[in-house]
Amino acid sequence: MQRYEGKRVVVTGGASGIGAAIALSMAAEGASVAVLDLDEAGARVVADKAGGPSLAVRCDVADPDDVARAFAAVDAALGGLDVLVNNAGHAPPQDEAKTQRALANLAKVMAGQAPDPLRGTSSLELEAWDRMIRVHLYGTFYCAREGMRRMEEAGRGGAMLNITSILGLAGSAQAPHYSAAKGGIIALTKSLSQDGMAAGIRVNAIAPGWIDTPLTQNALAPEMAAVLTMQIPMGRMGTVEEIAPLALHLCADEASYTTGQIISPNGGVL
Ligand SMILES: NC(=O)c1ccc[n+]([C@@H]2O[C@H](COP(=O)([O-])OP(=O)(O)OC[C@H]3O[C@@H](n4cnc5c(N)ncnc54)[C@H](O)[C@@H]3O)[C@@H](O)[C@H]2O)c1
Repeated sequence: MQRYEGKRVVVTGGASGIGAAIALSMAAEGASVAVLDLDEAGARVVADKAGGPSLAVRCDVADPDDVARAFAAVDAALGGLDVLVNNAGHAPPQDEAKTQRALANLAKVMAGQAPDPLRGTSSLELEAWDRMIRVHLYGTFYCAREGMRRMEEAGRGGAMLNITSILGLAGSAQAPHYSAAKGGIIALTKSLSQDGMAAGIRVNAIAPGWIDTPLTQNALAPEMAAVLTMQIPMGRMGTVEEIAPLALHLCADEASYTTGQIISPNGGVL
């Protein structure tokens, strides 16, 4: 099947994990892919694997000037875009104190005692809050705006996919900033889908549960990963190979009646 023959695709955060899997799967079905990432070397590896006219562009999605430059580079190389995947993101780094509080609470609850406050919000630094919202929510907006402008102008329709999270649907005591940023992306997705309809631009989101990628490997202490995995009805984290096919479906012409939807592959958590 070659659903992406002739399609020009931009994937942000495409150097690693979910974004790399989506970029390479779309390339395998014929797409030319622009891999935008902070990690230029990683983006180049993925673009080289994608082959053809695919390209790597260093870009911080939280910086509107950087985003404008990156989309201009895509214009120069590919002459525009048909599909935009807003995937770039980071998780809060491991926090030893929070991890210990969470594990102590687990022991307390198992012993029939009341848990202590996790202090997920009261201990959160303004800088961490700000960067999280800037990368995820502002970043998605900056890229969506550049993509919308081009798709509207070209008049050929198009597809956008935003990668949000199960934590944007369910909330998170440990990471309120991540959860709020991802919740904002859900509302933005619905707004973009309504805005894009007249121009034939479909906009959907995937809200993954826990997926085994460098992000989760770095963000979760092994004990926390075990505790989280126990809460997944399927008993395991998902893989990027279980996310990419859904992304390919949503951005392909076969999903022509699907827009404004938030789909959450999460192993039965929610
Ligand atoms: N792994 C999970 O369990 C999970 C669950 C739900 C949602 N997500 C979301 O999926 C997306 C991809 O995550 P992943 O697990 O593949 O992580 P990953 O760390 O493997 O990949 C993320 C990529 O984004 C890039 N990136 C980070 N900040 C950037 C910025 N400001 N500008 C440009 N590029 C930037 C990184 O360099 C990296 O290449 C993220 O938005 C993440 O929040 C992941």
